[in-house]
Amino acid sequence: MRDNVLKKLEQFVSSVPDNEYSKTIAAISLFDFMDIMRDDDYPIDWLDRLTGSLKNIQDGLLAQEQTILFGDFEFSCNDDTSEDIAQQTGEVYFKLWRRFDSVEYFDKTTESLNRRFQLNGVDQFQNKSVLDAGCGSGRYSQALKTLGSATVTGVDISPNSVEFAERHNRYSDAVKYVTGSVLDLPFDDDSFEFGFSNGVLHHTTDTLKGLSELSRVLQKGSHCWLYLYGGVDSFFWDIVDCCRKLLTDIPEEFCISVMQVLGYTPGRIFHRNDFFYVPIHRRYREIDVLEMLNVAGFVDIKRLHRGVQYDWDEIMHQKPTLDRYWFGEGEMRFLIKNK
Ligand SMILES: C[S@@+](CC[C@H](N)C(=O)[O-])C[C@H]1O[C@@H](n2cnc3c(N)ncnc32)[C@H](O)[C@@H]1O
Repeated sequence: MRDNVLKKLEQFVSSVPDNEYSKTIAAISLFDFMDIMRDDDYPIDWLDRLTGSLKNIQDGLLAQEQTILFGDFEFSCNDDTSEDIAQQTGEVYFKLWRRFDSVEYFDKTTESLNRRFQLNGVDQFQNKSVLDAGCGSGRYSQALKTLGSATVTGVDISPNSVEFAERHNRYSDAVKYVTGSVLDLPFDDDSFEFGFSNGVLHHTTDTLKGLSELSRVLQKGSHCWLYLYGGVDSFFWDIVDCCRKLLTDIPEEFCISVMQVLGYTPGRIFHRNDFFYVPIHRRYREIDVLEMLNVAGFVDIKRLHRGVQYDWDEIMHQKPTLDRYWFGEGEMRFLIKNK
């Protein structure tokens, strides 16, 4: 089945007209197709629907003229070296959350984190000093404080994101932001009582090093929330890889402009470009994560299977009969304890 899908996706990519506009629309449409399927409760005939949708997108692209102007963009390959991959990653995200409004930034983030915590029985952050490792915009640092942490320190590689986080800080006496790398955390050993690393380490050059650093700066016996990409060999990632292929030479700002013209909200744009443009995005099987956690010094590893409506594990929890090919083993959210 998977080979079949991969072949269809491959054919689709090679049939898209070779211009920036077509490639961008094709990538966005493909990703939307996946979202529609999700809303549609994953019909059994999804493979046929995929074929039909790819054909519709192709026909639409061929029939359409590029009539909308998106401004002047420099279309060039990204030839940055690996040394600034982390900075590059930071900038990809900064371009996304600087468009968030306060509902997205504060209310929705707090609501979804609260739900994930409650459904999985996570309350170990209450009244604790928390490290938000790879805090980005600081939205979860704010949410962690709102939900009951004593203090939160957010650290991120991107000075722009740290500055953005500071500007949106509602708790300047209890929440602090620092620029630094999660692979070389600028804190002493045993500095924090709870760790939180949400969707960060799979974007770095060395996930295991990041886990070891977390273990170093957390007090012994303290807990940590960890989220890594999972779902190896899944339909989701096959589509994402296909979109990335289409967008290889298209600047992120151009893609954002197209989505804005199409009326996408900042949250929806974030959800797409989170996958389309970030340089490194590793995906893990549970067994690989367990192995790394063991080496890094974490014990009492609890996989968190519940979440908000759109979290893969929640979808799989509600529909246990779902074909594994959709999401593989699901997302990798864990509550872990420092040895
Ligand atoms: C997907 S975002 C997640 C941000 C935040 N945790 C959230 O869930 O909203 C990934 C973040 O990791 C940061 N990042 C990537 N590599 C990093 C590194 N080596 N050190 C610190 N932060 C890094 C990026 O700048 C970005 O803010």
